[in-house]
Amino acid sequence: MRLRAMLRALRLIGPRKALRAVGYTLLRDRLDFRLPPAGPFLPPGNIREATSASGGGCFRFTRGELEVRFLAPDLVRVTWGRGLLPIPYAIARDDWLPVETSWRRAGEGYALASSELEVVVEADGGLTFRDPAGRTLRREFPPRRRRREWVHWAELRPEEHLYGLGERAAPLNLRGGEYCMWNSDPLGGYGPGVDPLYLGIPVYLGLHQEGSYLLFYENSYRAVFRFKDLARVYFPGGSLRYYFIPGPPERALRRYTELTGRPPLPPRWALGYHQSRWGYREQEEVRTLLKKFLDHDLPLSVIHLDIDYMDGFRVFTVDRSRFPDLLALARELAEHGVRLVAILDPGVKRDPEYDLFREGLESGHFCTLPNGAVLYALVWPGWCAFPDFTDPVVRAWWGKQYSRLLEWGIAGFWHDMNEPSVHTDWGDSTFPLPTRHVMEGRGGDHREAHNLYGLLMNQAAYEGLCQQRPDVRPFLLSRSGWAGLQRYAWNWTGDTESTWEALQQTIPTVLGLGLSGIPYTGPDIGGFSGRPSAELYTRWFQLATFLPFFRTHSAWDVPPREPWTWGEPVLSIVREFLRLRYRLMPYLYTLAWETSRTGHPLVRPLFWPDGRDPALWDVQDAFLLGEALLVAPVLEEGARSRRVTLPAGRWYDFWEEAVYRGPGTVSVPAPLECIPLLVRAGSVLPMEEEGRLALHLYPPEGSEGGGLLYSDAGDGYGPWRLERFHLRQTGDALEMAWETEGDYPFPWSDVRLFLHGVRAGRLWIDGREFGPVRRVVETGPFRLLRLEGPEFCGDAGR
Ligand code: GLC
Repeated sequence: MRLRAMLRALRLIGPRKALRAVGYTLLRDRLDFRLPPAGPFLPPGNIREATSASGGGCFRFTRGELEVRFLAPDLVRVTWGRGLLPIPYAIARDDWLPVETSWRRAGEGYALASSELEVVVEADGGLTFRDPAGRTLRREFPPRRRRREWVHWAELRPEEHLYGLGERAAPLNLRGGEYCMWNSDPLGGYGPGVDPLYLGIPVYLGLHQEGSYLLFYENSYRAVFRFKDLARVYFPGGSLRYYFIPGPPERALRRYTELTGRPPLPPRWALGYHQSRWGYREQEEVRTLLKKFLDHDLPLSVIHLDIDYMDGFRVFTVDRSRFPDLLALARELAEHGVRLVAILDPGVKRDPEYDLFREGLESGHFCTLPNGAVLYALVWPGWCAFPDFTDPVVRAWWGKQYSRLLEWGIAGFWHDMNEPSVHTDWGDSTFPLPTRHVMEGRGGDHREAHNLYGLLMNQAAYEGLCQQRPDVRPFLLSRSGWAGLQRYAWNWTGDTESTWEALQQTIPTVLGLGLSGIPYTGPDIGGFSGRPSAELYTRWFQLATFLPFFRTHSAWDVPPREPWTWGEPVLSIVREFLRLRYRLMPYLYTLAWETSRTGHPLVRPLFWPDGRDPALWDVQDAFLLGEALLVAPVLEEGARSRRVTLPAGRWYDFWEEAVYRGPGTVSVPAPLECIPLLVRAGSVLPMEEEGRLALHLYPPEGSEGGGLLYSDAGDGYGPWRLERFHLRQTGDALEMAWETEGDYPFPWSDVRLFLHGVRAGRLWIDGREFGPVRRVVETGPFRLLRLEGPEFCGDAGR
């Protein structure tokens, strides 16, 4: 399998470059060579001294020190010294208010407690975390250290499930596996089981019978996580600093993204459909592409330009022979509401005629080897130098360059190869480990900076764009990053294979990223590296319709892949799903607004929000989109129905008037034209239809329900409005109250109300009787809807 991937990578890179890469690969091997460290790993020994400090305490052990500090009642930071403290690249907030904590002796150790969490420090350095009811959430053994290396162990309960660690081609529940934190390009096309991938994040969520918690290690070194009977984490350097957050996933993610930052509201167009291909080589081709979308009546928001638009693959340049007037093209597309997003790689071509290279070289902006020489490695343009994004001066310099492409009408940027990834013939396809980095002035090497490289490239771009176009919300898409990436960029899941297995992997990968704080992601529809069958493409497209990032993309050496490639019925099915995506835009945009305030992923596992039902802990063939929708894509060839596991409550079929009841598993039809899509009872689902607001109302099962709707101009930082819909079942009436906040004018011509699951009753809107209930009611905005004597449809009972 790996051999096949290597051969494909060779094909994509080309034999000439592969040959030139031999020299670089040998150099990297020579520089990376180090004798493995010897000697035993030692625990810290016994507590010698304990000092209580406001919001925590400090403990001196025979070999080492420990600081425990509450940043909030449910957020505690643990730091084991000695070791190099991290530069807080991941951290977005440091102005925490003092936390009231108590301090007492507990046996030979000490117990520190806030109102939400107790941390017991044992005499030997073991730590126990308990909730206020005394339930043990986690027990850690004393960490062990050997010079700069650390090993950290914790007990896992037999039923404990673990999620996260960023981007993984693994099952949703990571228990039983081993995972490496080293952002890597798997080369060519990857499938399930490949590890590591482009975007590792040392954060995970633990879920067991006694409760749940989130743990984030603020250490960017190449860690190895092993989740077997115990959780064992190995760090080759840095300090052992981590944050512990007790509580259900919903609360833990909120806190974690308060610590590492929330994803800003994207421009609304980014939630539309994106069409891409490595191989749109000319301006005319892009024009034809747009025309075909229009001719086929397919909505489209973005076209991506892969590396071919550049002049000899020089970043921030445009090949004028193939794209003679990019600005005119961008304007033409804009008339149809379509934007251009252009790819950028961090490598700057070594070419003395190229101003960016000259400037970077003269100003010392590039990464260097320990002997002070600039590091050169091979990427698409041949030999490249690499900006050192750990230097604030370099970030500012790089951030300024975006204006070159903004002038050409480019609306968003796609950051690739920023693991960083370079062409090699074997081993790690990245910089030599001793490569020097500025690290904000304190100095460091690639062992520490590698995993931060993508994050900081995005920081540079985001800050540059905010400066240059303060009224426009940046759109960045990045293959790599680290904790905190969500503050700057979206992500896609890279070069996947075009197989049913890779399609199945999409859901756990996207869910895992969401639980690691990265809410905006999605796959190359149809897979990057192969030729999907019509059916595989259709099923992939249907799934991706409900993912935040919605893009078809593929490699240059596979046949072109646009929605019309397979003719009918694929074209019509894809058109319907595209339309559905745009109809759902008010709902999606509201979810985007919510995640900017909560950090909650748009796409959530079925055990969201509180994780108490273990039957849902392993479900990875379906997901929730926000609170209202449950999406169960078809993941097997030939399947025309599928089993769907339901969380508790009533679930309405989106396509027809059927109702299912959870918890449990039901069989739902899934002909090629659709996939099971269910709506939670009690939802008000805002959709859009020809300029009208379509409000779909699904009666609650208990007494309450509701929904939100956020709107604004779709970009910029101007006025907004928020509609709150409250559903209430009282006596023999169902009511929906509608409240509005904010100054943005109501953006729809009128309102079309859909009443689902109601058979009979009398309808009143703002005190005016509308007569017997109808399925569809045309109205304007209102304050109160009342349905008297409602009769509801029964369950489908399948
Ligand atoms: C990488 C990217 C892929 C892109 C290609 C060429 O393989 O992951 O999306 O098309 O480079 O730029």
